[in-house]
Amino acid sequence: MSTYTQELQTTAKALVAKGKGILAMDESNGTCNKRFEKLGIATTEENRRNYRELILTAPNLNTYISGAILFDETIRQSSATGESFVSVMQRLGLIPGIKVDGGAKPFAGHPDELVTEGLDGLDDRVREYYNLGARFAKWRAVITIGANIPSAACIEANADALARYAAICQANGLVPIVEPEVLIDGNHTLDRCREVTAATLKEVFKQLTTQGVAFDQMILKPSMVITGLSATLPAPVHEVATTTIETLLQAVPPTVAGIAFLSGGQTNEQAAAHLNAMNVMFPQTPWPVTFSYARAIQQSALDKWRGDSANVAAAQKILAHRAACNSAASNGTYTVDLDRQLALV
Ligand code: 13P
Repeated sequence: MSTYTQELQTTAKALVAKGKGILAMDESNGTCNKRFEKLGIATTEENRRNYRELILTAPNLNTYISGAILFDETIRQSSATGESFVSVMQRLGLIPGIKVDGGAKPFAGHPDELVTEGLDGLDDRVREYYNLGARFAKWRAVITIGANIPSAACIEANADALARYAAICQANGLVPIVEPEVLIDGNHTLDRCREVTAATLKEVFKQLTTQGVAFDQMILKPSMVITGLSATLPAPVHEVATTTIETLLQAVPPTVAGIAFLSGGQTNEQAAAHLNAMNVMFPQTPWPVTFSYARAIQQSALDKWRGDSANVAAAQKILAHRAACNSAASNGTYTVDLDRQLALV
């Protein structure tokens, strides 16, 4: 038992509480700016702040969202009235989280593969984030499917980093979200994605075990087992759901506090329908199965906002709508009809 054991268990449970999921709004400045540029939004710190305020203050967000993952710039920012975003979140019942990885970089000696950086000085940074009010963290590893990749070396290096990050977080009071993302890019089959996801998760849990990470004090944020984006025949929803849950059941210890999927380039409707099917078809999984989406919650709201304050209320409505649909999916009560009905409210 560490000093933080009980707090970590409580936070982990709260993050995956029934009907709730996690909002990933931790795009780095680079990624956020790219999304702004596509829409002609000026890439200024003030615009990033305005956008994050729009998200955090969307009406009723905490009915559907347990916590939100912030970027380093955001956790230090404040609302227009001068209240820190952390304080805004605490007041609204949203648990503050923080992205702590340094991004996925080219993996030496392995063309087209990436390894996530950021372990140097992580202990000090994590302590600072705890003092700023963060109670959970995220580290994203990226695994690419291609002709002869992923290599065992890429999977192992990323799994090792994820495990060391998770141990550092738990030692300092932050619940680690362990995110090994198998990219959707490519024309791979569902079976190839299953094989790579299984190998990745197996290695991740081997390394987490080696580093002594407590499973009941962490959240796994996996990608779904899904056909590649450019494949001609996407697998039907029930196959994605079945293959994903079966793969997880084989690799993920039952004591893990929760599963919170990334959306990974799926459409809004796909991300909700897949999550929903898993909860309908597998109501008895050992862990809660929910979402930690970025694009599948935010993108339509960003498209509406476009940097114009006149669009804030409409954009917030769209954001809350996507959050409500994914909350329903985490309960197995999402339908396309419900999606349309909620959009009209
Ligand atoms: P997407 O839901 O857009 O894949 O983002 C989730 C995330 O946090 C990626 O690290």
